[in-house]
Amino acid sequence: MQVALTIKTGVVVETKSKAAAKKSATHPNTWVFYDGEFGRYHDIRLGLMTHALHYGTGCFEGIRAYWNPKQEQLHLLQAPAHYTRLQRSANVMRMTVPYSTEELVNLTVELLRRNQFKSDVYIRPLLYASSEEIGVRLHNLEHSFFIYAIPFGNYVEIESGIRCMVSSWRRVPDQSLPARAKITGSYAQSALAKSEAVESGFDEAIVLTVDGHVSEGSAENVFMLKDGVFVTPPVTDDILEGVTRTLIMDLIKSELGKSVLERSIDRTELYTCDELLLCGTGAQISPVIEVDRRRVGTGKVGEFTQELQSIYFDAVRGDSPKFKDWTIPVY
Ligand SMILES: Cc1ncc(COP(=O)(O)O)c(C=O)c1O
Repeated sequence: MQVALTIKTGVVVETKSKAAAKKSATHPNTWVFYDGEFGRYHDIRLGLMTHALHYGTGCFEGIRAYWNPKQEQLHLLQAPAHYTRLQRSANVMRMTVPYSTEELVNLTVELLRRNQFKSDVYIRPLLYASSEEIGVRLHNLEHSFFIYAIPFGNYVEIESGIRCMVSSWRRVPDQSLPARAKITGSYAQSALAKSEAVESGFDEAIVLTVDGHVSEGSAENVFMLKDGVFVTPPVTDDILEGVTRTLIMDLIKSELGKSVLERSIDRTELYTCDELLLCGTGAQISPVIEVDRRRVGTGKVGEFTQELQSIYFDAVRGDSPKFKDWTIPVY
């Protein structure tokens, strides 16, 4: 790879650093869907002035597909629900996804087929302001849309349980930056919380609302089990309305025979509940065994959390006929 050099007032500036070149070469031949066509990752070029890069004016999704080696099948999980949410996020951002939900699902299946994935995969559709202009706004902008997919393992630990801290950063309130829309710019808040937690020696952050109630993890929704009832923050506590959250609520009721309450959760309930878990497409179901250096329940992975994991992983891999409608077979 050639590195172009620019001499500027005696300073040598690498316009394409070796590190950047190496990074962009990670998946050079991956098929991507970009602005109406299938192409190769390395052929896509984004301008330095791209609006979304400067102002966070984009919205996106994170979808998983699970490889089932016995079936030799890739199962695309909850794609219609993710694309419905993308349409809603786009509406908040004064954007329009240029395809119907059904078309988006079909494009995703086609993309996965082209890449011939035989492993678990993470899929990233992103709609963004692509105008190359200075000026912060939502109106009078051009938009681009792509779908990109990569092989992907666990995002956070799911077996032995994770240790969390309550973040000193608060969740973006609906009055400022609606968390229910999956907006690229609002992930700077998640990044602040995640890095604070990891660099303080924890695995993940749990973030409170501005008024001090539990909202969610940096990229996960929260459930706690207390006195036999599962509780999760309501959609009005500045959460992303998680696709996994809905699936877990259904499993708790139908498979565990327990009830789920959507109500605000106080910070200290995290210290006094019996079980705690984080869930999301990336995180899947991640048991929390410690919060702010306080044991959760027995300090071990909770019995009901484990049961939920077992049912969930069978379902997402297409091993559970009862939950066949959760996934779409790709091949
Ligand atoms: C902030 C936030 N909350 C919750 C979730 C979980 O949402 P889902 O289950 O739809 O992946 C995510 C996942 O991306 C997230 O980023």
